[in-house]
Amino acid sequence: MKTIATLLTYTTAALCAVANPTLTVDASHPAGKVSPTFFGLMTEEINHAYDGGLYAELIRNRAFLDNATAPVNWELVNDNGAEATIALDPTNSFNDKLTMSLRLTVTKAAKSQPGSVANTGYWGIPVQPNTRYRATLLARSEASFTGPVTVSIVSDDGRVVYASEKFKGLAPDWKKFEVVLKTGKVAPTTKARFQITLDQPGTVWFGMVSLFPPTWNNQPNGFRKDLMQMLVDLNPKFLRFPGGNYVEGDTIETRFDWKKTIGPIDERHGHQCPWGYRSTDGMGLLEFLEWCEDMKAEPVLAVYAGYSLKGAHVNPRPELAPYVQDALDEIEYVTGDANTTWGARRAKDGHPAPFKLTCVEVGNEDFFDKSKSYDGRFAQFYDAIKARYPQLKVISTIGNEQPANLRVHSRKPDVLDEHYYRPTDEFIRMSPGYARKYDRSGPEIFVGEWAAYEDAKLKPWEAGSRKLPPTPAMKSAIGDAVFMAAMERNSDLILMQCYAPLFVNVNPGARQWRPDLIGYDGISAFGSPSYYAIQMFSRNLGDEILTVASAETSVQGSATRDSQTGEIILKLVNPHPTAESLNIEIKGVSSLDSKADAITLAGNPEDINSITEPKKVIPVTTTVRHLKPVFTYTMPPNSIVVLKLKARS
Ligand code: AHR
Repeated sequence: MKTIATLLTYTTAALCAVANPTLTVDASHPAGKVSPTFFGLMTEEINHAYDGGLYAELIRNRAFLDNATAPVNWELVNDNGAEATIALDPTNSFNDKLTMSLRLTVTKAAKSQPGSVANTGYWGIPVQPNTRYRATLLARSEASFTGPVTVSIVSDDGRVVYASEKFKGLAPDWKKFEVVLKTGKVAPTTKARFQITLDQPGTVWFGMVSLFPPTWNNQPNGFRKDLMQMLVDLNPKFLRFPGGNYVEGDTIETRFDWKKTIGPIDERHGHQCPWGYRSTDGMGLLEFLEWCEDMKAEPVLAVYAGYSLKGAHVNPRPELAPYVQDALDEIEYVTGDANTTWGARRAKDGHPAPFKLTCVEVGNEDFFDKSKSYDGRFAQFYDAIKARYPQLKVISTIGNEQPANLRVHSRKPDVLDEHYYRPTDEFIRMSPGYARKYDRSGPEIFVGEWAAYEDAKLKPWEAGSRKLPPTPAMKSAIGDAVFMAAMERNSDLILMQCYAPLFVNVNPGARQWRPDLIGYDGISAFGSPSYYAIQMFSRNLGDEILTVASAETSVQGSATRDSQTGEIILKLVNPHPTAESLNIEIKGVSSLDSKADAITLAGNPEDINSITEPKKVIPVTTTVRHLKPVFTYTMPPNSIVVLKLKARS
């Protein structure tokens, strides 16, 4: 006789079985091919992404051009008896690109504390133990002073000297001095400064002062290692650069004028970036290309298209012609062999081999152009690019998310760039239908910027969003994941997609936009939950799209298959605060391995990662067992899961 308890158990089990919604993956017929370039990265100078970020330069205002009236980020060190002054000096410049110098005059040097000037770096000079820092100084002196000059990395209270070296041989002509500073066994810190000291009275002018830690692949003028590793770990297939707004500039004069960003760094004047600070242009066109090469990713090159953010535009035809020519020259710099004018220039700059290029984007978000000149401007770029480089895909910056009347009509762009910054709740609503009805014979789609944010009232570009932590919480990762799943379901048409912005320096005052994928200070970096969601998706991408159908569940997902191994990769997102059990049916397979890996990212909606807690929300891999072509799987609350099913057909 069955007890009441047993009956209740049976009834609950039966009810659960009935109540579980079903999610069906059709593995009998792939619905399309996944674009092999689907996952990539988007980058621009924003939130100190390069200067004070990926670009490993540690000296802030290295060429004294950041402020026309004061040597910002440079300070006279409290001199304890020494008499010294510093001043900007435009009359003693190194060349016509580095048009300012810093004059340091020491009239009386005190033994205990000679006359020094110090750079405070990007929120401090970061110091690591047993590390070699390469200092480069362009300097000249008055005839009576030849040195020595001491350069050192010291704690910001001046008490601890982490590394120190001397050089001499200064003369009235400009010279370049290179010094290696080695730290010993010290605790990592960002609370340090870079100090230049005259041991004797004298006057010295500096045209540029630069300090690099070891860089990724030890490249000169290179990138921060930890941030590069985080990018490589995302397995990106392309890099969209140099913007974003950064390609356009606030004004035509302050656009990303690529020809001014190549060559030795002492020939780069830098320029004002639209995000409120000045860029050194240390990250120039060649550095972007080498960055792609380092990640084994292809460049998606955005060219300036004659529109700048504060509203100025260049009319099509003769006025626009020089800008079109600039873009053609730029493409030649990227792809031309050493027999071409700009290919030869690239070889001279240190990279003889051409880079592979498939896509060129004409401008950025040209739907903002009130003059409505984009159709004409795009046509002029499109015709010129196609005439010389017929194989290139030309991307329009006005996508299907914009009103039809704004889009390009006079030409058929190869690809349309769509941008989506949306609250998580909106991504959850829009994702099931996203791109489903797009014309498959129309232009391909590049979702060139997207990101979910938590609170609809705190928009990424508004100052209010700065009240929140710089990187997004788990709630955003849920929105990102449902949208990624939607894009993946349509990855036959969506050629490429990338989150934006990529980087944020978390120090106060460094940020212009929120949310951002990766946060850092001078010595530490962390990925947001969104970073890990992207990593889970991008490292588990099949090449065949499988249809996923579900009813009566708020779980959203996508499925692909690796045609080589037969592995079915099922991505599921549960946006609810409660667990959800699903009956998962894999149609068209004869059997499944009884075990599979499940990679899970789960947490409370408000959970974040940070400098102090970098791994609060990270993916965890477990084994699921007892699998059959129809099985029950329970999604944890607020979770993103990748199931890797070994199937036989
Ligand atoms: O990603 C931040 C900004 O958002 C980009 O610069 C711009 O293209 C968009 O409006």
